Amino acid sequence: NLPTQVRIVDVGPRDGLQNEKQVIDTAVKVELIARLGAAGLKSIEATSFVSPKWVPQMGDNAEVMASIQRLPGVGYPVLTPNLKGFEAALAAGAEEVAVFGAASESFSQKNINCSIAESLQRFEPVMAAAQAAGVKVRGYVSCVLGCPYEGEIAPAAVAEVAATLFDMGCYEVSLGDTIGTGTPGKTQRMLDAVAARVPVGKLAGHYHDTYGQALANIYASLERGVAVFDASVGGLGGCPYAAGASGNVATEDVVYLLDGLGIDTGIDLNRLVDTAAWISAQLGREPASKVARAVLAK
Ligand code: HMG
Ligand code: MG
Repeated sequence: NLPTQVRIVDVGPRDGLQNEKQVIDTAVKVELIARLGAAGLKSIEATSFVSPKWVPQMGDNAEVMASIQRLPGVGYPVLTPNLKGFEAALAAGAEEVAVFGAASESFSQKNINCSIAESLQRFEPVMAAAQAAGVKVRGYVSCVLGCPYEGEIAPAAVAEVAATLFDMGCYEVSLGDTIGTGTPGKTQRMLDAVAARVPVGKLAGHYHDTYGQALANIYASLERGVAVFDASVGGLGGCPYAAGASGNVATEDVVYLLDGLGIDTGIDLNRLVDTAAWISAQLGREPASKVARAVLAK
């Protein structure tokens, strides 16, 4: 019994472009977000309000937020690691933010320069300020199926962080296979541990495709009732603090899978593939995904 409808969060403008070595024009980011909206995406992660010393690629966050044309019914979440980031996001007009923690201590230190416990403490004032401002907060857990520094991560450790984020008031918790090492059986064992603490309808899968397992992990997650997936158009991305990690699963690969299963996403595959081709050309390459290559070859 798979879900009949799935929401896809395109994280390409953030997770994808944060990892590009070249600086990308703000206008290109803004056009990418517009094209994704036109293709039918209902959630588009637009940018992040992190330190520009740590991630210079997102240094134009306020300009991006000022320039995007917001479509009705479409959410444009942004990452906010702390209150400083939240205040900047709010000033830039963000209506939805995401806090991001990890199930691995070493990854937490490398990514956000603090322990897991400290990160959760930093999110408390963000949650309070967001609630006061009527801003929705999504929560991320990184390293749910493995860590670049620690290797295996216990499902119980993932469940603990996910439950804390949910209990804090995150409306949804996105489970990140940051380095794409997960496989379907492992994904289901992790989900079973998390779903014992957080309703499955409040979970999202965020799978990087480093080992080519992301679609299989999505199918395994659908079997467990997960109905929200993060993906990035053209398979853009990676993670600056996870060496060797390749991009998120390509949005067009996920849409092709779901179309084939008769699961509604509201996304137009052809427009999405055109967008994958367009942004890849902006970056001077071919789209990484199999579906984009196959559709474009027709
Ligand atoms: P820190 O150095 O510990 O922070 O960084 P601090 O509070 O000590 O401040 C140091 C300086 O940063 C100060 O400036 C602050 O004002 C400034 P200075 O006095 O030196 O000029 N600062 C900020 N500036 C702008 N925006 C802010 C901000 N906060 C402090 N929000 C911090 C801590 C979290 C800021 C830093 O470690 C950081 O920005 N890290 C970047 C993390 C990141 O963006 N990682 C990639 C996204 S997460 C991801 O990709 C995983 C995900 O996709 C899921 C998955 O795949 O697993 C979500
Ligand atoms: Mg990611």
